[in-house]
Amino acid sequence: MDNSILFTPGKIGPLTLRNRTIRAAAYEGMCPGNAPSEQLFNYHTAVAAGGIGMTNIAYAAVTQSGLSFERQLWMRKEIIPGLRKLTDAIHKEGAAASIQLGHCGNMSHKRICGCTPVGASSGFNLYSPTLVRGLNPSELPAMARAYGEAVNLAREAGMDAVEIHAGHGYLISQFLSPYTNHRSDEYGGSLANRMRFMKMCMAEVMKAAGSDMAVTVKMNMRDGFKGGMEIDECLEVARTLQDECGVHALVLSGGFVSRAPMYVMRGTMPIRTLTHYMPWGYLPIGVRMVGKYMIPSVPFKEAYFLEDALKFRKALHMPLIYVGGLIARDKIEEVLNDGFQFVAMARALVNDPGFVNRMKTDAHARVDCGHSNYCVARIYTRDMVCHKTVEGLPACLANEIKRLEYK
Ligand SMILES: Cc1cc2nc3c(=O)[nH]c(=O)nc-3n(C[C@H](O)[C@H](O)[C@H](O)COP(=O)(O)O)c2cc1C
Repeated sequence: MDNSILFTPGKIGPLTLRNRTIRAAAYEGMCPGNAPSEQLFNYHTAVAAGGIGMTNIAYAAVTQSGLSFERQLWMRKEIIPGLRKLTDAIHKEGAAASIQLGHCGNMSHKRICGCTPVGASSGFNLYSPTLVRGLNPSELPAMARAYGEAVNLAREAGMDAVEIHAGHGYLISQFLSPYTNHRSDEYGGSLANRMRFMKMCMAEVMKAAGSDMAVTVKMNMRDGFKGGMEIDECLEVARTLQDECGVHALVLSGGFVSRAPMYVMRGTMPIRTLTHYMPWGYLPIGVRMVGKYMIPSVPFKEAYFLEDALKFRKALHMPLIYVGGLIARDKIEEVLNDGFQFVAMARALVNDPGFVNRMKTDAHARVDCGHSNYCVARIYTRDMVCHKTVEGLPACLANEIKRLEYK
């Protein structure tokens, strides 16, 4: 590891990180009232103190209509002081701060987002479940401007970077994917048309970011199911973000939450855990009956996106951030040696916020995460925590975790 770049500084646009590690945006469920809380503060400062190069606060909605969870951030003036307190503390620990900005599109419910959920096309989203209203062309410029306004708010809050969520089947991804985009106007049909909304958003984002903020985009390399986007089209999206939009780095992911959710994270969704925390009623009964068919498992392996990500590495010259299944320093070194400038981790840092510092002194450091996805099931109704920190975990959940852990 003598020539390892892991603990050397790396650049993303105007920003220099102290090392090559990034906390991947992972929705924390720690924002009651759609505002930052002490729990969010404590989690991110622990990750920053744990040695990370940059921590990424997850999944902030650019408008109220973009909220998909009750305990999710919504970018607006009122939350700036709370975010500023958080970025000050992150900076004090020597890390940089980023915020993921997005809009959930059809992945919401009127009760949460305050309106009939909107998307690229009208229809019914079985996963929410909800009716969806396709956005009119006249509404799109304002939606794109909301991304730019959110970048300005992020700057005011002291963020060094923003990450635009263009993957996983959220709004920009709903425009990109032929699965959710059935439009017959200039925003649907050909890939060039399906990219038009993304390009509008990115123009606003880059204008607002100016020369002092770093801009990353999280995008799909594949949607992860038949009828979704495949790698050739996604490569075209990446080239457009690099050459036309001038984005500083890409986070390469995949999956579609309303159709192939486990493609994003791999493994199995722990249905017993998911329903355990739901309020009593018909919904948990229904989810327990059909959940495993609606949320099919996808086998986990370490660095599961590497094969696809290498195709992007070959086709692009911009900095790339690898994410997906990193829990060990050995694999992280392999990924960096393959030409990726940064590595991002979500579950490793749910399990152990101090993992990065541990890697400094242990060339074979590993995180003891079994990928039972307890933390994933829990965020639908509660906060993001590892089952290892939960006192008095019910036996039925402990058994499910044991059964699903990847050995
Ligand atoms: C609890 C949890 C919440 C997540 N929420 C988000 C999110 O808000 N936005 C996002 O882009 N990805 C989200 N992800 C996906 C992660 O960012 C990451 O892409 C994925 O978990 C693979 O990385 P890992 O193997 O290091 O966990 C989430 C993952 C987890 C485990």
